[in-house]
Amino acid sequence: MNSIKIAVLGLGNVGKGVWKILRRHRNMIKEYIGVPIDVKKVLVRDVQKKRDIDVPPHMLTTNFDDILLDEDIRIIVELIGGLHPAYEYMRKAIEMGKHVVTANKAVIASYGRELIQLANERNVLLRFEGSVGGGIPIIAALTRSLAANEIEAVVGIINGTTNYILTQMTRYGMDFNTALKLAQEKGYAEADPSSDVEGEDAAFKLSILAFIAFGVQVPPQDIPREGITRISEKEIQYAAQLGYTIKLLAAARKHDGKLDLHVHPALVPNTHPLAAVNDEFNALFVKGDAVGELMMYGKGAGSLPTGSAVVSDIMDVASTMMSGSTTPYMYRNAREKLQINGEG
Ligand code: NDP
Ligand code: HSE
Repeated sequence: MNSIKIAVLGLGNVGKGVWKILRRHRNMIKEYIGVPIDVKKVLVRDVQKKRDIDVPPHMLTTNFDDILLDEDIRIIVELIGGLHPAYEYMRKAIEMGKHVVTANKAVIASYGRELIQLANERNVLLRFEGSVGGGIPIIAALTRSLAANEIEAVVGIINGTTNYILTQMTRYGMDFNTALKLAQEKGYAEADPSSDVEGEDAAFKLSILAFIAFGVQVPPQDIPREGITRISEKEIQYAAQLGYTIKLLAAARKHDGKLDLHVHPALVPNTHPLAAVNDEFNALFVKGDAVGELMMYGKGAGSLPTGSAVVSDIMDVASTMMSGSTTPYMYRNAREKLQINGEG
């Protein structure tokens, strides 16, 4: 094999980051894998759209079948977002024996287990590091580096847009709508930002973390959630006067055979490390029975940080392909029947 050909679905904030990293590190990637990784096609909605990126126009297509039926293309990188048609594209790709990398938390939270099972049956790889925590390697940490632990808790800030908005409101007294507009301009927000500000995006991510850390499948719609739309500038000021910072927290905690999951705004004491996590940064505390407590911190949204996670997944798939193996990824199975949020 002279090179590994891939296709990228979507050339938005993350798609552009992936393109730039693949270009910037072409030689390094070639050294790492043994052959270069070349993008052969890019799926977009509108090929005529003016784009601030040097992707040759002949690579662009609006027809997914151009990619699906191209036998040269071995890895499909899904970055269009939303449930549909992203889910169908990923399913078809796996059925055709193509490896899939995605940053789509909506699809992985809703159909992750089904797609992983299908991928394992077809001997192809499915990777989704970019779906939680942007550039923070939390999926790799939980599935590999912390595999020797019984996980007791995963708690943190896992939405960059809301953290950015709360930071601007706290630091500069900026109003909610102006801060949201800035977050959108910086490429942190979802195509429909209500998913961010109403806590849905964080619930998707928490559902993925529950699967990865505790081996349970909790539909994201079953996770109690409250977003940040009802937080006023006054509340933020009062909290500051009392020595607290308001943060949107996501938490999954196991105790006595129960798993409590929720997403909600919380008053974090200014002395706590989470109070210092600002702008688009995310942070995750993990508690494992052997390792104890640890914290991961980094950019939770944005083109290059998320591109870092996606390209690292592409490289992982490519190097696994080169080694001739498609060993299924190991995921935890819950060792006990966990009661989710007090269900009967
Ligand atoms: P954007 O909205 O910026 O980009 C979406 C891209 O997908 C566009 O290029 C668009 O085409 C294309 N597209 C959308 N729908 C279709 C379709 N039906 N057919 C073909 N092309 C389509 O999204 P982002 O790059 O911000 O996000 C992509 C994914 O990454 C999402 O799942 C998101 O949740 C996830 N993610 C995003 C992060 C971020 O910081 N933005 C961080 C972590 C994950 P066109 O350009 O022609 O309009
Ligand atoms: N909209 C998401 C966020 C992108 O703001 O966290 C990263 O998943």
